[in-house]
Amino acid sequence: MSTPSESPSSAPAVSKGLEGIVAAHTRLSDVRGDVGQLIYCGYDIDELAGKVSYEEVVYLLNHNHLPNPKELSELKTTLAGYRELPQGVIDMLCRLPADCPPMHAIRTGVSALGCYDTIADDDTMDAQRRKALRLIAQIPVVTAYFHRARQGKPLVHPDPTLGEAANFLYMIDGEKPSAEKVSTMDMCYVLHADHGMNASTFSARVTIATLSDMYSAITTAIGTLKGPLPGGANEGVIKMLQEIGSLDKVDAYVDECMKQKRKIMGIGHRVYKVLDPRAPHLKRMAQILSAKLGEPKWIQMSERIAALMLEKKNLHANVDFYSATVYYSLGIPTDLFTPIFAIARTSGWTAHVLEQLADNRLIRPQSVYTGPVGLKVTPLEQR
Ligand code: COA
Repeated sequence: MSTPSESPSSAPAVSKGLEGIVAAHTRLSDVRGDVGQLIYCGYDIDELAGKVSYEEVVYLLNHNHLPNPKELSELKTTLAGYRELPQGVIDMLCRLPADCPPMHAIRTGVSALGCYDTIADDDTMDAQRRKALRLIAQIPVVTAYFHRARQGKPLVHPDPTLGEAANFLYMIDGEKPSAEKVSTMDMCYVLHADHGMNASTFSARVTIATLSDMYSAITTAIGTLKGPLPGGANEGVIKMLQEIGSLDKVDAYVDECMKQKRKIMGIGHRVYKVLDPRAPHLKRMAQILSAKLGEPKWIQMSERIAALMLEKKNLHANVDFYSATVYYSLGIPTDLFTPIFAIARTSGWTAHVLEQLADNRLIRPQSVYTGPVGLKVTPLEQR
């Protein structure tokens, strides 16, 4: 048996997790981890949050400037007009197993949408832009239809008079949402729209850089976001809060996690080494909603966990930490938390796909081989 050969001394250094590797120029967003700043096309997230709607952010990411009223109105009309799904996709979503996790259903739904779109492989920029907007409009519909179907409830069809956040809430609940619910969800969409070269965005860019198609790129991104490290942590936060149960048990729980080296969901970040700038906005919304619902224990427990983690490990809460309490307070089922992240992030993913296409180069890193060399084949019957 041969032993692995030494890597040649001239082998390039490996950056595990591609940490510190710069993979692209982008005009879309900048994550400044050292100062806790997030910028979309020149605007600080603190400047945008509460002042612009999700649709304005969609426009910003697509055009690099905020829309005027006419441009915004045209975009809203276009998105509302794109919401309808092919009947074949609706039938397929209704036939999926009811216990299928929604992220699987959405990934499958987006892939299926590509089968029905006659311009799926049209690589003109005009067609790519149309597909981008169609996906932004259709992924919430895929999510809502699957969610209704899995409960055996009649599907609620999109309402073209409603904006993106309101229409999604309407389609999952079957009733028109309150203005407060809509503005909260809209702000969550704004905060989640883009985030630099995160794992799912990178995966979308890798796929489109092969000159595959928009549906394949977004399917890839959804599969990447699904993992608990980048996107699925918000679900873990609610499970953790439920497991802890009450404020007086938080300290012991955190101590036990520290002892067992178990990670606390919603805490820590690969890039932000100070506070994630999205977290204070979500925290404020979580505080308001918890007070209104008369169920302050979730936010109280969250605040205590965040304080302990800062004190013990100098780690801050990330976007998932308080968004979990916000969605929970809005009555959204836990397994739709990550799909909502995907719905909002589709604006960023598609904008990155368009940006990659505008100046494309195949993304193809290398690896350092650490296996043996020079092995000889032993005939099958002698092995
Ligand atoms: N709970 C407890 N300790 C944590 C932690 C957490 N959530 N996140 C990081 N740490 C600790 C690690 O154990 C490690 O400690 P050590 O140096 O004593 O071994 C140190 O902080 C560095 O952690 P590391 O895992 O190397 O950081 P990373 O940059 O690779 O990971 C995350 C970043 C986000 C993957 C990580 O913080 C994590 O898993 N967080 C929980 C999941 C989550 O909320 N994800 C959503 C991100 S938006």
